[in-house]
Amino acid sequence: MVGQTPTTLNEYYVCPLGELQEKGALGIEIEHPRYRGWEVAVFWDGERVGTLENFCPHQGALLSWGTVEPGQVICPLHSAIFDIVTGECLDRYTYDATAYETFVRGDEVWARLPGRPLKRARV
Ligand code: FES
Repeated sequence: MVGQTPTTLNEYYVCPLGELQEKGALGIEIEHPRYRGWEVAVFWDGERVGTLENFCPHQGALLSWGTVEPGQVICPLHSAIFDIVTGECLDRYTYDATAYETFVRGDEVWARLPGRPLKRARV
């Protein structure tokens, strides 16, 4: 279940690995300590998982709606390219995205986040 008690400080279960593998990206709303309605995007590129802040640093487009390619996600609005693990903007179109450490444990995806996951942001 999304948002179950973390095992260590700020380490939370985020989603089932199988669902992420099927969809490639999921937007997750989290209980941010300072901001309401905050979201992260979790990605699967066929080999790796990564979690970034869901709002593109350029003009705030939802990265979970972007195109996932090996190692990267392409912003759906102006096509900036981000590394799904580090958040680095690979084409230097804009600033780097905030990245969160992400783990696969069995068939579960976990991440170190600023707050507890609440729900899927949107389908
Ligand atoms: S909003 Fe993402 S590149 Fe412009």
